[in-house]
Amino acid sequence: MRWLEAFHIIFVVTWFAGLFYLPRLFVYAAENPNPPTIDLLKIMQRRLMMITHIGGATAVVLGLSLLIAEPWHLASGGWMHAKLVLVAGLIGYHLWCWRLVGIFARDLNRHSSRWYRLFNEAPALFLVIVVILVVVKPF
Ligand code: HEM
Repeated sequence: MRWLEAFHIIFVVTWFAGLFYLPRLFVYAAENPNPPTIDLLKIMQRRLMMITHIGGATAVVLGLSLLIAEPWHLASGGWMHAKLVLVAGLIGYHLWCWRLVGIFARDLNRHSSRWYRLFNEAPALFLVIVVILVVVKPF
């Protein structure tokens, strides 16, 4: 299962590249009233969203395949359950980013760049806790 795990981690990294950079594009778009710049940022948001969908969906499918192949992880303490709850939160964050890409596309953004800067902090928090859960397995 080492191959499956290797590709699981590769796609998790791809997913997080998008979850880290999409909100930065929202910050730039919220700060920039210049129409040609906004148009370029909208294209970048849409393309990065596609890569983030691919990374996220593949990471989750490979993670679930690992779990089916090695079901004992669910019985070895509560760390896997906690991880699954956090992954559900990450999927929620991903869907929220997708919704925001649509809002920018229709020029309907109402949030400030400061709001997006705070929004941008969430994936780092998820990443730190999930990696500690899967590597340290504290409970
Ligand atoms: C539904 C989603 C997911 C499922 C079902 C899942 C499941 C798994 C399983 C069963 C393992 C093997 C655990 C072991 O051998 O100790 C694993 C490894 C790992 N997962 Fe996930 N995972 C998911 C999403 C994620 C996410 C979102 C992240 C990062 C934020 C992540 C990070 C990792 C890492 C770093 C490892 C390697 C741990 C190690 O070998 O020490 N996974 N995952």
